[in-house]
Amino acid sequence: MAIVTTKEMFKKAYDGGYAIGAFNVNNMEIIQGITEAAIDQHAPLILQVSKGARAYAKHVYLMKLIEAAIEDAEQTAGFDLPICVHLDHGDTFELCKSCIDGGFSSVMIDGSSKPYEENVALTRKVVEYAHDHGVVVEGELGTLAGIEDEVNVSAEDSSYTRPEEVEDFVKRTGVDSLAIAIGTSHGAYKFTAAQCTRDADGKLVPPPLRFDILREVEKRLPGFPIVLHGSSSVPQEFVKIINECGGKMPDAVGIPEEQLREAARMAVCKINIDSDLRLALTACIRKHFVEHPDHFDPRQYLKPGREAIKAMVTHKLVNVLGCNGKA
Ligand code: G3H
Ligand code: 13P
Ligand code: ZN
Repeated sequence: MAIVTTKEMFKKAYDGGYAIGAFNVNNMEIIQGITEAAIDQHAPLILQVSKGARAYAKHVYLMKLIEAAIEDAEQTAGFDLPICVHLDHGDTFELCKSCIDGGFSSVMIDGSSKPYEENVALTRKVVEYAHDHGVVVEGELGTLAGIEDEVNVSAEDSSYTRPEEVEDFVKRTGVDSLAIAIGTSHGAYKFTAAQCTRDADGKLVPPPLRFDILREVEKRLPGFPIVLHGSSSVPQEFVKIINECGGKMPDAVGIPEEQLREAARMAVCKINIDSDLRLALTACIRKHFVEHPDHFDPRQYLKPGREAIKAMVTHKLVNVLGCNGKA
């Protein structure tokens, strides 16, 4: 199967009350770990590439690796793995155009930090070019706290999506999906300890997502696919391994899985996950070196790292997103 857009994936996900996982990719092992999980689970997939990932690995390497994964799925599993290749957080028309011209089937134009009318104009321009080339577009309204690429968005700057803007934005831009801000944020430190409460075991419990905003958006845009960024759960078993194996990540905290499951049952059709991939890989490699200080062949630690990613993604597909068996 060729690379596909999200059109059919999102329609089925919306109607079926599940979500598609959008995983950030930066190298071969990450792509293999994710796609192997999706093949085993017969799950549709979005692989997304940030500006930073393109700078790190180069567009052509990532594209060819993804094409190789599709070919491998056909040859070794006899399975047509439907993959959408998506630009994550495109910040200019030129970057979006370059990804569209380079074979991506979906782009995000993130004008969320711009004044509303500028966001509308930029998003509209990208949509016109993308749709002329058979590519779909994700826009964003509302600002997430945390890190977006190299730009630091401070917690004070974060502002929830204003439901009263969404119909106008979607109508005037023609976007195919909309990312909204309901309390998620990027990275492994989604909330400060002061924003959380602690449970009986002293574990940090983050404040709940703003489901009231999601419900209001859903009401105003019936049948329209909604996207959640910053949706890593920051599994505490990874944080513990990292801290026990020479790392230092105190008070890292993410979005509880049950809240993501609830969002997936609602209008959320795409859930973005990057930090959990990084945590799985880093925890595995740190542990490996503690247990095998003599190893220096990258295959000795990248192979279990790839397996750790596969296991983590399998868990998400089955237990959080509910998209297993949907391809
Ligand atoms: O939303 C941002 C993603 O986690 C991408 O991160 O810019 O470090 O590739 P990156
Ligand atoms: P996390 O940092 O929560 O994984 O978010 C990833 C993301 O939103 C990529 O766009
Ligand atoms: Zn994001």
